[in-house]
Amino acid sequence: MEIASILANVCLFLFSFLSYHFLKKKKKRRRNRTPKHRAKLPPGSMGWPCVGETLQLYTQDPNVFFAAKQKRYGEVFKSHILGCPCVMLASPEGARFVLVTHAHLFKPTYPKSKEKMIGPSALFFHQGDYHNLLRRLLQSSLSPGKIRKLLPSMESVAISALESWSSGDIINTYHEMKKFSFDVGILSIFGHLDSNYRQTLSDNYHIVDKGYNSFPAKIPGTAYYKALLARKRLNKILSEIICERKEKRLQEKDFLGQLLNFKNEKGEIITEDQIADNIIGVLFAAQDTTASVLTWIMKYLHDDQKLLEAVKAEHMEIYEANERGKKPLTWAQTRSMPLTYKVILESLRVASIISFTFREAVVDVEYNGYLIPKGWKVLPMFRSIHHNPEFFPYPHIFDPSRFEVAPKPNTFMPFGNGVHACPGNNIAKLEMLVLIHHIVTKFRWEVVGTQNGIQYGPFPVPQRGLPARFWR
Ligand code: HEM
Repeated sequence: MEIASILANVCLFLFSFLSYHFLKKKKKRRRNRTPKHRAKLPPGSMGWPCVGETLQLYTQDPNVFFAAKQKRYGEVFKSHILGCPCVMLASPEGARFVLVTHAHLFKPTYPKSKEKMIGPSALFFHQGDYHNLLRRLLQSSLSPGKIRKLLPSMESVAISALESWSSGDIINTYHEMKKFSFDVGILSIFGHLDSNYRQTLSDNYHIVDKGYNSFPAKIPGTAYYKALLARKRLNKILSEIICERKEKRLQEKDFLGQLLNFKNEKGEIITEDQIADNIIGVLFAAQDTTASVLTWIMKYLHDDQKLLEAVKAEHMEIYEANERGKKPLTWAQTRSMPLTYKVILESLRVASIISFTFREAVVDVEYNGYLIPKGWKVLPMFRSIHHNPEFFPYPHIFDPSRFEVAPKPNTFMPFGNGVHACPGNNIAKLEMLVLIHHIVTKFRWEVVGTQNGIQYGPFPVPQRGLPARFWR
């Protein structure tokens, strides 16, 4: 009896001991489970080995590529582009998850060759304190109060750009818009800049721009190699401009001034290399984007003469009030161009020149029951959201009046969303309003040659840059 009781107690002890450890281990295992164990990868196709689906994406209309995917797999699907496995998110909730609510789980990501060309310290490659600081300085130089002061110079830039088109010769609208948006970019960074500096910056930036989208071969003679050399020259020119500003002890409030005057409580400053990378970064972010949208606006207005007449009427009223253009545009007038503003918004929606953006998952992430593995790229799909008939009925029809009612939250993101959203959106809209004012009040234009078709370079623009003839 004694022995039986001892045995029973030993068994009970062993049972309790083992169950305790088994349960503890199970609990630990459950706690340590990453989403990988629970969730599965989204549906989709990874395409061919190595190239994945890159060719399909870059050789056809992105609308067709994404619409076909979405129809087949839904709003979350996987693919493989530019050498990387990726997850595409085509819903407002998905874009918000990546860019806003869970932005800390995703980092910005760009090919190394592009990072090198622009400059690795440019703000959009970064997260955290450094990014916040640079963003704060840029935002303060682009606040409505600051860009308001740029209006007269911006107007002069617009007028002189248009003078150069008015000979009646055929121009490449996109190329001319690029010159205009570059000059406004220079204004927003430097305020007034000596014309010699402006010209050398423009010449060298043009070479960098040409090499940026070419094959990154460091072989003398290639566009990429020439661009790397031009990028070095840009640093030298910027260094001279900085030196001159320091000598003159100018305390300007423009972006360069903000960068030069910064010193934190530990006495740390922003280095000259960091300044150069951020200046080139802003020029890069400002030029092709604004120029592509302006080119589309010219096409949409040209294609809808009734709309053009209505826009013209809006501006003629301002033009007459300004003694037929003798007086400059006022800030209040630029705030009171409701139809033109809607044309800009609708152009941003229909053209969706930034079809998507890239982030990279820094840990395994679960979204809507799907796994986004660490290291995979994540693409919030602005274009698909802007072309979803649920949010924008008859999405292919250009109809500015749809913006009489504000779009549903997170369905309209031409300038992105969250911590990396575009800090240049106000100046971009202002320069578009100013240029349109001067075009429609003084010029007529006709598009030359075939008028349909899109080219990608890398943003979508009308075929051959929309060749057009402008006259008074
Ligand atoms: C119509 C013209 C423009 C469009 C459609 C546009 C669009 C965008 C978008 C979608 C982003 C976010 C990208 C992302 O989340 O990955 C962005 C970022 C940015 N944009 Fe713009 N942009 C325009 C004009 C400008 C202008 C004129 C400037 C400067 C003067 C500018 C400066 C920047 C900068 C510096 C960033 C990076 C912000 C950061 O990482 O914190 N953009 N832009």
